[in-house]
Amino acid sequence: MVRKVEIFDTTLRDGEQTPGVALNVYEKLEIARQLAKLKVDVIEAGFPIASNGDFNAVKTIAENVKGPVIAGLARANFKDIDRAAEALKNAESPRIHTFIASSPIHMQYKLKMSPEQVLEAAVEAVKRAKSYFEDVEFSAEDATRSDVEFLCKLFSQTIKAGATVINIPDTVGYTTPEEFANLIRTLRERVPEMDRVKISVHCHNDLGMAVANSLAAVVNGATQVECTINGLGERAGNAALEELVMALVTRKDIYKVDLNIDTRQIYRTSKVVSTLTGIHVQPNKAIVGANAFAHASGIHQHGVLSEKSTYEIMTPESIGLTSNRIVLGKLSGRHAFVQRLKELGYELSEEETNRAFERFKDLADKKKEITDSDIEAIVEEQVTKIPQLIELEYFQTSSGNQAIATSTVRVKIQGNTVEEAATGNGPVDATYKALERACNINCKLVDYSIKSVSAGKDAIGEVVVRIEKDGKIFTGRGLSTDIIEASARAYTDALNKTLYNSNGNKPAETNEEE
Ligand code: KIV
Ligand code: ZN
Repeated sequence: MVRKVEIFDTTLRDGEQTPGVALNVYEKLEIARQLAKLKVDVIEAGFPIASNGDFNAVKTIAENVKGPVIAGLARANFKDIDRAAEALKNAESPRIHTFIASSPIHMQYKLKMSPEQVLEAAVEAVKRAKSYFEDVEFSAEDATRSDVEFLCKLFSQTIKAGATVINIPDTVGYTTPEEFANLIRTLRERVPEMDRVKISVHCHNDLGMAVANSLAAVVNGATQVECTINGLGERAGNAALEELVMALVTRKDIYKVDLNIDTRQIYRTSKVVSTLTGIHVQPNKAIVGANAFAHASGIHQHGVLSEKSTYEIMTPESIGLTSNRIVLGKLSGRHAFVQRLKELGYELSEEETNRAFERFKDLADKKKEITDSDIEAIVEEQVTKIPQLIELEYFQTSSGNQAIATSTVRVKIQGNTVEEAATGNGPVDATYKALERACNINCKLVDYSIKSVSAGKDAIGEVVVRIEKDGKIFTGRGLSTDIIEASARAYTDALNKTLYNSNGNKPAETNEEE
């Protein structure tokens, strides 16, 4: 009989812990909606006690995204659990995911608690979570470096206290497929209660084995796998959803499990996540990298042309890559644009379509052919826009290898027009200084990257910047066929986010140490 394995996506929680990633509530909601289209079984929407921003994001997702279970993370204490319950209370299917470390090293040095105290805290936490919702997940953090006897006791008692899902994390990416398989088997043999709950695994990628370890767990009885889009996550990241899913689908002959995932949404989901997080996908990344389905050598090209399966073990269409080369241009009307949006799988509101179409027209004036990649970039830029408190109205730069770069900018800030000029080390630097002056915002540029969205000399340049203000990171993104304009737009976007943050999306007061 074919077993069902559930996909638990933690892009919005563990994935958001990727260094440099900071998503606002609009962006998180957009990702959650896309995850629902991908048909993941569970979306871990965040860690509600961590900040007011995280709380609001979990609450917003719980209230607006239907289909998947919505989970919120909580340490094994009442304050965390009560906050998670508050954020999740309007979800269609809420789950509290509570955790505590179980390894000697974490108990002694981090928690400063004895195993007995950890056991008691875990049981009390599960009971508290159960008083809110039926669905409760318990994780033994650093399980793979824990004493197996202790793990058995912890899992047996938390299941008796009401846990419906038991998660076995390889928190530091230390285990190997053989060792992890053995651990899952041993736990199932020694803890009879595990038969009546879902068995979950959560693998980190420090040794590059997160996917292999998760698959080994599936073979040995795991019924839920935790993962992230593009393998985002703490340090080297988590198991990549797209790799896990396509391994389970492509080698169903071996794994013999069914998934609910709509694999044709994988590519789109990867794109949305890389765009909104600003973390680019490496070209040779399995499944979703730009080269994953490219055949460069003559021998391979020849083989694929005669019979695709010579070098393709899965089809590009199976992950939602289309070979459709329809291009739009200056003469394409709204109807053609809307039609292409539909074909690409977008369901935009009237207002979002209007904004995207305006931007499309603007670009079509400067660029002869607008490809699918361009359209995707435009839509992501427009749809996830937070309220624009700062608008870039105009900029002009002059620079040269013998000249001092200068820039003049005009911005509208909450209705007031401000003009400023500055000199700098190149036109981008000068523009950024002028923008900071005009907006009266002091911040530090910590990262700047530029890449082209599509091919050709008139390609759209995509600039992603990260700025730091008051210890927080804000990501901005800008598109244009002119790279200085793309740079200015990206900076304005990031500056807008700093204002949005201080206008209602504030981080909470520092929380107690874990
Ligand atoms: O890596 C880990 O152990 C975690 C837990 C909170 C599940 O992220
Ligand atoms: Zn983790």
